[in-house]
Amino acid sequence: MPKQTIVTMPGDGIGRAVMQEALRVLDASGFEANYVEADIGWDFWCNEGNALPDRTVKLLAEHQVGLFGAITSKPKEEAAAELADHLKGKGYVYASPIVGMRQHFNLDICIRPCHTYKGNPLNFIRRGLHGEIEEPEVDVVVFRQNTEGLYCGVEWSNPLGIVYEALKSHKNFVKNFGMVPPEEIAVSTRIFTRKATERILRAAFEHAAQNGYRSVTLCEKPNVIRETSGMMYNMARQIQREYPAIELWNTNIDAQMMWLTKNPEDYGVIVAGNMFGDIVSDGFAGLIGGLGFACSANIGDQVAVFEPTHGSAPKYADYPVSIVNPIAMIESACMMLDHLKQPERAAKIRRAVASVIAEGRVRTYDMLKMKGSPDVLRHGAASTREMGDAVIKELLMNNEQ
Ligand code: NAI
Ligand code: MG
Repeated sequence: MPKQTIVTMPGDGIGRAVMQEALRVLDASGFEANYVEADIGWDFWCNEGNALPDRTVKLLAEHQVGLFGAITSKPKEEAAAELADHLKGKGYVYASPIVGMRQHFNLDICIRPCHTYKGNPLNFIRRGLHGEIEEPEVDVVVFRQNTEGLYCGVEWSNPLGIVYEALKSHKNFVKNFGMVPPEEIAVSTRIFTRKATERILRAAFEHAAQNGYRSVTLCEKPNVIRETSGMMYNMARQIQREYPAIELWNTNIDAQMMWLTKNPEDYGVIVAGNMFGDIVSDGFAGLIGGLGFACSANIGDQVAVFEPTHGSAPKYADYPVSIVNPIAMIESACMMLDHLKQPERAAKIRRAVASVIAEGRVRTYDMLKMKGSPDVLRHGAASTREMGDAVIKELLMNNEQ
């Protein structure tokens, strides 16, 4: 079989350090691939006016599998100020490359698993009825619609002409905003299509069926946001009929965030639109250790990109020895292996990570609840590299057994 080519996009800041560890772990697992590194991120914005150069898009189109670290994004005006002199004033507008990638390749299915690792000191704990400490085991996979909804960028400040007129055609607009002049109004639209909604719902049910989950929870707000959430709920009820063994639960995003800490162990697969999926997945990630542990996949028909949820953490980027936790990136690489139909290899790596966490001898600063600084290494925290080494050592030991 020809070797798979993986497009690596380390990006900015800590993206580079965590990517290195993920690649070393993949190597140690015996995964054979060709890697091509692609340009993405802040330097390319500053020097070319495009954080996602066309050559990177081409590489992804050709090889179809991307492993992404993190990038630095800044607000429009700040970004414009950092452009190279020869690009200033030429109409370049900063756009986030990860959002660009999702839109360009229609990576509409975002998967964000949140699993408890035993022994992780950052695991959520609560008190039981008699004051005892409980550590519920979270095993949730969030399916987030990745391309539509409130993040699709169809928005206006001071909406003029036909947009304002169209709004006025709605009786609730007239009732609530009829007296407000357009220059006092900003509008962001929340558009759901049946096609994309069906794809994310089906992906969620299919994942539940194939992995033994007994419920799919739709986490939206259909009682209030009737057209979009309402459509999604109705479609979910239809699709559930094809999966009689799986229950459909319906929770509102606000209540779900409250229940998150009450009974997180009750949830399995969760499915939501773009923004609510973003919110609920961060909520669950907080229960299993936060950004150092939160991995994700962005999957389209042709192309798939795997990335940790965290950003480039610029304040830690220039440390002489990197201190950040590479586990979210390593877990993202495991999701890539699942996608490439190598689930046994992914499981092997996850077992190695689990052993390292359970043993508790090697912990990055976040796991030790330290404030990040170069000093943490002197106080017993493992570096990014040492965490990578520990996982690799465990992997190789398990191989020998
Ligand atoms: P961030 O995720 O980069 O960092 C927030 C804080 O979380 C860090 O200061 C650190 O304390 C902690 N943290 C993050 N990753 C960690 C790791 N692997 N191990 C241990 N601790 C970790 O978010 P922030 O500071 O809001 O954004 C920084 C830059 O990253 C911004 O320019 C932002 O636009 C960008 N960003 C990029 C994303 C991406 O590439 N997908 C996602 C989120 C933010
Ligand atoms: Mg988020």
